[in-house]
Amino acid sequence: MAHKIAVIGGDGIGPEVTEQAQRVAGAAAKRAGLDLSFNSFPYSADYYLEHGVGIEPGRFADFRANYGAILFGAVGDKRVPDMAHGRQLLLGARFELDLYINLRPIKLFTPDLCPLKGKGPDDVNMVIFRENTEGLYVGVGGQVRRGTDDEIAMQTAVYTRRGTERIIRAAFEYAVKNERKSVCMSDKANAMRDGHELWQRTFKEVAAEYPQIEAFHLYVDVAAMEMVQNPERFDVLVTENLFGDILSDLGAGLQGGLGTAASGNIHPGRCSLFEPVHGSAPDIAGTGKANPMAAVLSAAMMLDHLGSPEAALRVENAVIAQIAAGDVTVDLGGNLNCVEVGERLLARVLA
Ligand code: NAD
Ligand code: IPM
Ligand code: MN
Repeated sequence: MAHKIAVIGGDGIGPEVTEQAQRVAGAAAKRAGLDLSFNSFPYSADYYLEHGVGIEPGRFADFRANYGAILFGAVGDKRVPDMAHGRQLLLGARFELDLYINLRPIKLFTPDLCPLKGKGPDDVNMVIFRENTEGLYVGVGGQVRRGTDDEIAMQTAVYTRRGTERIIRAAFEYAVKNERKSVCMSDKANAMRDGHELWQRTFKEVAAEYPQIEAFHLYVDVAAMEMVQNPERFDVLVTENLFGDILSDLGAGLQGGLGTAASGNIHPGRCSLFEPVHGSAPDIAGTGKANPMAAVLSAAMMLDHLGSPEAALRVENAVIAQIAAGDVTVDLGGNLNCVEVGERLLARVLA
């Protein structure tokens, strides 16, 4: 199968880690007989400052019609303080391509990387299904009497039955396919009664269709604590947009940090976007310190999405072997730079 891949490095460390992800995933794809052709796009803060838009009109439709996937780095640049370009580009992709599943696996590869005492790979192995098109991210809000003592700022969360149901169903379907025991739904229905009662009701109804999967609920505050104290309780965790954002960084912390946390913004069967969970990390951009493993593992998720689980596994196994060998960047206790980690991963994928 041949697929076109749109590569968008973005800002800060985005282009650095994406370059390594592209070469490692490209090599694994080739070995598995998956024919990928990569096309790079310059969308970034620089592009926005030059052109006044984050991405040209019509480009998402082009991606949707002609591309198998988007390999994305990160956005975030202090010259665009309101993140206008990032909203057009990243939230734009999520909304315009209707990438309703933000799949964020949390998988500890070795106990050394876990800050929790006595926890190992069997304990920290869960998958977050973050709803990716609704909630507080829809941009419904406003400011009144701005700059006065009577200022009002509003940001409204939007939840639809359709949007809630499809992400919950995706979580259960994943659990069935991947032989996971349970699905936990996390919300804040005790405080946000209108929106999250819909989540509770929908969860109960969908869960009833999957009697073989244990279904349970935790308020998001308790879920955060449980992820730290008893991460082994979680298999599949489904939650709304903002809670999923926060819990996935917490999860990243359990598996070695943001340098290792991968994600896929997915609409099954359609052009989807794969990116590390981390941002543009301006504090280390250009220093070579960026760990490309999160981007590489995101590219592995892309290979899986494009129909080559064996290529995805080859990449993941290379990362596991490389962490075990200590061929890693400073965030994981090593002394290699971003390019060196990419080169060694490439050698492992080709071995
Ligand atoms: P960040 O994820 O960029 O960085 C947080 C910390 O983790 C920093 O100390 C950074 O050096 C470290 N870090 C992140 N990725 C790393 C890697 N691959 N290897 C080693 N260390 C790594 O979060 P932030 O500092 O809050 O945000 C910076 C900018 O990125 C902001 O503009 C923010 O809005 C944006 N952001 C974008 C995305 C995205 O594009 N998906 C995600 C999160 C944040
Ligand atoms: C993420 C990021 C984004 C989000 C930001 C950059 C808008 O934190 O992908 O996790 O909140 O979704
Ligand atoms: Mn985030």
